[in-house]
Amino acid sequence: MHPAAFIDIKVKQGEYTPQQLDDFIAALMRDEIDDCQVGAWLMAVLLQGMTIKEAAALTTAMASSGKRLNLDNSMPGPIADKHSSGGVGDKLTLILGPLLAAAGIYQLKLSGRGLGHTGGTIDKLESIPGFKCDLSIDTLLDQVRRIGVAIGAQTKDLAPADGKLYAIRDVTATVESIPLIASSIMSKKIAAGAPTIVLDVKCGTGAFMKTESGAKELASLMVEIGKALGRNMRALVTNMNQPLGRAVGNALEVREAIEVLNGGGPPDVRELTLELAAEVLLTTGTVSDVGKAREQLSALLANGSALQKFGDLIEAQGGNRKIIENPNLLGGHSAIKSPGCTKGGWVKSIDPMTIAIACKNMGGGRSRKDDLIDSLAGVELNAQVGDRVEAGQSLLTVYCAEEAQGVQLAQQLENTAFILSDRPIERPILVLERF
Ligand code: URA
Repeated sequence: MHPAAFIDIKVKQGEYTPQQLDDFIAALMRDEIDDCQVGAWLMAVLLQGMTIKEAAALTTAMASSGKRLNLDNSMPGPIADKHSSGGVGDKLTLILGPLLAAAGIYQLKLSGRGLGHTGGTIDKLESIPGFKCDLSIDTLLDQVRRIGVAIGAQTKDLAPADGKLYAIRDVTATVESIPLIASSIMSKKIAAGAPTIVLDVKCGTGAFMKTESGAKELASLMVEIGKALGRNMRALVTNMNQPLGRAVGNALEVREAIEVLNGGGPPDVRELTLELAAEVLLTTGTVSDVGKAREQLSALLANGSALQKFGDLIEAQGGNRKIIENPNLLGGHSAIKSPGCTKGGWVKSIDPMTIAIACKNMGGGRSRKDDLIDSLAGVELNAQVGDRVEAGQSLLTVYCAEEAQGVQLAQQLENTAFILSDRPIERPILVLERF
C-alpha cells in the first residue's frame, strides 16, 4: 500500500489490520518510508488513537523488527521482567534484581542510560568501580542461568523499529501518544522474551506521565497488549510526586539500594520494593498469597541473602563486590548541607523536577546521548513529605564537584524545591492503582 493511503486510513478513523501494520513497519525498516510520511502517520495516531487490537499488532510488528528472545523454560525456575517507566530517585531495579533472584526468580534485565530528568539504571550501576553493562545477550543469559540475574544495556538488536520511530516522535510532538508509548515499551519487553512482565507505571510531577488518568490508561493498555501477546501481566500505577527515597544521583542511589538490601533504607523505597516484588512472586505463581510473599521477601532482606546476591551480580559483571560492605569505596564529593529552613512545619511537597534538574546541572545527568556524567554528583533529602522539620534544620545535602556551585544549589533547592505547611501532612499513598 502507498504510505499516503496507509496514513489516510487513520486520518479517516479507520482500523488497521495486523498485516497492514506489519507491512508498514517492515517498509520502515527497509528505509522505504520518508520521515515526513512517518511523522504524518505518528500525528494521525496521536490524534485518532488506536484500538487495543491495533496497539497489540503494532507492538508485535515492532518486536519482530529485530532479534526476538524466547526465554520460556530456558531457566531452572520462573522468569520475570520488571519494568519501570522511570522517575526521579527510582533505584528499584538495583534492589528488585538481586532480591527476586534470592527468591528464585530468573531475570534478564535490559535497561537504558538516563536522558532528560530521569536517571538510567545503567548509569547507576556504572558508578560501581569496574561494573560492565555492555555485554552480549549470550553472556547475560549465561549469567542469569548461573546466579539468577543479569542487568545489561538495552541493545539496538531488540525492537530496532522503536529507535527509528522514537527519533521521529521526538521531533514531531508525538511522544505523548498513549498507544505509541505503550507499543514502544511493550515491543522491547516482548522482544526480551520474559513470560511474566510486571510494570511500574510512575505518575506525577517527576514522571513521564503527569496525570493519574493518563498513567492509568497507559498501564491498562500495556497490560492488555501483553495479555493479547500471551504474557502474564501485572501493572501498578505508583506515585512520583516527590523523589523516591532520599537519594537522587547515581552513586548515592547505589548506596541507598545497599541500605534497602541490608534490611534498612527509607520506608517508601522499602515499601514499593515489597509491593512490586510481591507482585512478581504472585504473577509467576511462586507464592499464592501476598502475605506469604511479603514475609519471604522481608526475610531475604533481613538475613543478608538479597545483599549477597547483589554482591554476586556486581562480581559477575566485573565490579568490586566489596562495596556492599563498604559503600565508601564508591567514592564521593564532600557533603554540602543546605543552610536550614527559616521556620518549622511539616513537609508538604518536594518537587522532583527541581531536584533532578539540579543533579543534571551538577553533571549527574545528560542533555545529549553521548555526554559524560559525574556519577558522584547528587542530592540527599534530609526530610520527606509528611515529616516534621524544625526551624534551622537542613533539608538537604548536595554532593557536587564544584564547591561554590554546590553551596549555591543547596540554598536554592532548600528555597525552591520544598514547600512546608503549618499543619500536619499525611504521607503520600504509594500505589495508586493495580491492573
Ligand atoms: N519509554 C519508552 O521506552 N518509550 C516511550 O515511548 C516512552 C517511554
